Amino acid sequence: MALFGFGRKKRSVGLDIGSGYIKVAVVNHSGSLPVVERLTAHPLGADAIVEGEIMDPGLVASTIDSVFEEQGIDRGSVAVSVGGRDVIIKPIQMDRMSKQDAREVIHWEAEQHVPFDMDDVQLDFEITDPEGEGLQMGVLLVAAKRELIENKLSLLEEAQLSARIIDVDAFALHNALEVNYPEAMNGIAGLINIGHETTTVNILDEGVPVLTRDISFGTRRLSIDLQRERAMSAEEAEVVLRGENTDDRLQAFLYERVQEVGRGIERATAFLETQELGAKLGRIYLCGGGVRIPSLTEALAERLGVETIVANPLEQLQVKPGGDEVVDADLLPPMMMLSLGLALRVAA
Ligand SMILES: Nc1ncnc2c1ncn2[C@@H]1O[C@H](COP(=O)(O)OP(=O)(O)OP(=O)(O)O)[C@@H](O)[C@H]1O
Ligand SMILES: [Mg+2]
Repeated sequence: MALFGFGRKKRSVGLDIGSGYIKVAVVNHSGSLPVVERLTAHPLGADAIVEGEIMDPGLVASTIDSVFEEQGIDRGSVAVSVGGRDVIIKPIQMDRMSKQDAREVIHWEAEQHVPFDMDDVQLDFEITDPEGEGLQMGVLLVAAKRELIENKLSLLEEAQLSARIIDVDAFALHNALEVNYPEAMNGIAGLINIGHETTTVNILDEGVPVLTRDISFGTRRLSIDLQRERAMSAEEAEVVLRGENTDDRLQAFLYERVQEVGRGIERATAFLETQELGAKLGRIYLCGGGVRIPSLTEALAERLGVETIVANPLEQLQVKPGGDEVVDADLLPPMMMLSLGLALRVAA
C-alpha cells in the first residue's frame, strides 16, 4: 500500500526526515534478495522541524541536498513517508466486494471514519482478509491530508530529488519489522519509535496495524531536562542519552522520565482489554535514536511486563561489504528502521 507510487527501480532510496537527523538508506533490489548498499545519518539544525512541522524548509531542503551531493546518492528514486496527526490509519469493516469495487466506494466509507474534509485528503486502503468469506471484510483505511503530501513533495523538489513513493511512517516501520522479525506478525506486538522529538506507538494485531499514537517525548526533551535539572551542557547530556555515561543517579533520574513512554503505551493498548478475551500485548520492539537512553528498556519491560527487544533493521538483511563506506562508523542501526523500511519498498 502506498499513497503514491511512481514505478519500479532497481535501487531504491529511503529518506527519513527526522527533527534531529536526516537518515538515508539505499537498497539494491536487482538480486533475489535485497542488499543494503548505504546507510547514513546527518544532524539537522536545531528547530528546523518542531513538533512535526517543518519551520525552516530552506534549511531542511539544503541539508538533504548536501547529504545526497556529498554521498553521491541517486536522486531519482526516493521513497519518503508522512505521519503524525494529519494521517489517519483505521481498520474498518465494510460489505465484502472486490478491490476494484471497493475503490469506487471507499470515498463514501471513509467519510464516516475520517475527521477531515474529504476534499482535502488522499485516501488509500487494503483488504486485510482477502480470503475471508463473511458478508463483511476487514479494510485498513488510510487518509492523509493532501497538504501534508504537497508540502513533502515541494520540499523534495527544493532538495532536487524526485519521489518514487510516498508512504506512511507506520507502514514503513512495519515493513522493516516484518522483514527482520517475522515472528512479530503473530499475536499482538508493539513497535515503539523513540526519536528526537516524538515517540510513536504502533500496535499490530496478527501483523495488521490496529493503532498508531504519537507521544511528545524524545531525546530532545530529555536533553533539556538534563541541562536544566542536572546542570549539564548539551554535549554532556548527549553523552548520557547515548548510554555512554552510566552514573547511578542519572540512571534513576531517567528511569523516572521514561515512565511517560510506558504510560503512553498503556493508554494506547487499553482498548485491547475491552476486546475479545485474552487480547494482550505480547512483545514490544523499540527503535529510533532513543533506544540507548539508559534504563529505558528495563523500565518498559518492568512496567508493561512484556518482553522488550531493541529492533535492529539489519537483523535479517544482507549488507554490502565495505565498512564505513556502506554503513557510517558511528551510526546506530535502530535509528534507521524507518529509512530502511522505505528503501525496502518496491513499487508495484
Ligand atoms: N549513534 C548515534 N548517532 C546519532 N544520534 C544518536 C546516536 N545514538 C543515540 N542518538 C540519539 O538519537 C537521537 C535521534 O534519534 P532519531 O534519529 O530516531 O530522531 P529523529 O527521527 O530525528 O526525530 P523525530 O522522529 O522525533 O522527528 C539524537 O537526538 C541522539 O540523542
Ligand atoms: Mg524519527
